[in-house]
Amino acid sequence: MRLNTRAVHAGDRKHSGSWVPVTTPIHTAVSYFYDEAADLERVFANEMAGPNYSRHGNPTNEALEELVTSLESGAQSGNGALACSSGMAALHLAITAALLDRKRVILAASALYGATINMLMKILEPTGIETVFVDFNDEPATAAAIAEHRPGALLMEAISNPLLRVAPLDRIAAMAKDAGAQLIVDSTFATPLIVRPLELGATFVVHSLTKYLSGHGDVLGGIVVTDSANIEAVRTLAKSLGPVLGPFESYLAMRGIKTFPVRMERQCANSCRVASWLAAHPAVERVYFPSDPAHPDAAIVKRLFAPNLYGAIVSFEVRGADRDRIFRLMNAFRLVIPATSLGDVQTMVSYSAMSSHRELSPKHRARLGIKDNLLRLSVGIEAVEDIISDLDQALKS
Ligand SMILES: Cc1ncc(COP(=O)(O)O)c(C=O)c1O
Repeated sequence: MRLNTRAVHAGDRKHSGSWVPVTTPIHTAVSYFYDEAADLERVFANEMAGPNYSRHGNPTNEALEELVTSLESGAQSGNGALACSSGMAALHLAITAALLDRKRVILAASALYGATINMLMKILEPTGIETVFVDFNDEPATAAAIAEHRPGALLMEAISNPLLRVAPLDRIAAMAKDAGAQLIVDSTFATPLIVRPLELGATFVVHSLTKYLSGHGDVLGGIVVTDSANIEAVRTLAKSLGPVLGPFESYLAMRGIKTFPVRMERQCANSCRVASWLAAHPAVERVYFPSDPAHPDAAIVKRLFAPNLYGAIVSFEVRGADRDRIFRLMNAFRLVIPATSLGDVQTMVSYSAMSSHRELSPKHRARLGIKDNLLRLSVGIEAVEDIISDLDQALKS
């Protein structure tokens, strides 16, 4: 071969022989071929396992998908996952798959991430997918809405953003099943360490991989995990729609997930300390955190959550603060980072009215109870004393 040809081909595509890399390599190849062309045909026909084209499946992504399926599945078998380019792409894929052969009506919990509400109302509604919102903590109202609207899918968050409501996932799943609807649970805030929705009867679990699972603020990704009855539909849709994750991000997500349970335990423990400290602070009007026995969903938390794990978000209202004072407070932090995301190793604070729920009208936010003095703290893994002392100096200032 001439140099120009060797420059393109040499060194690549070695068979791995008998050695095994300890961590999954980043498979950047878009296309794959086999010793026999007939084998590629078998792969295309799903008669033989293996990749053919990265939008259809990529070995790095498949390793990540197997990993997250295993975290979400417990004793169940036959489940599968599909890694997506963001949490929103994963949600969209799950909704599309759930409604494939069902009535195009979604019954959605009213307490959802702002961008999800936006997608339902402004993107999906004009395509003929109707959404009806209901308070999933009001079981009679949820049952009545199911009976009235006969939805094809139900959609909820395991712990809601940002007020941390916990709906009775197991009972909602049973109601969905009785009505022939598929329950989609965005479990980004809860993570499989705290609750595993598929074990409780949900059909689809969605994560923003961007948050706790990856955990280091350097990956934008999402994933859909579902049962054996739905995974092929998800894969088929992804082949055509192409919302798949890139292999570099898959690698980073897998790397992050290896330490996710250890990080999450620490973040949950830190959050309990931060929540009780904030509750006693005179500048804090109200704290939202599910460990509080006075939390409206305390009994559900006790029934469904792993013991002593309540998530790692603490939301709180600053007494008498308007936007200007909230901005001054955000500027006063020295350790806590005033940036938009959550679930990272660093403690970050976000102003819901400005970021996660900014697309909603002030009236809509007020209806959901998201006030203009509400901050959402994503508690990191730092020494909790340092987090508290930063909160203290910022609140004092
Ligand atoms: C609960 C929840 N679901 C989904 C998403 C969307 O995730 P991504 O930013 O990865 O698209 C977010 C983002 O903040 C979220 O908070």
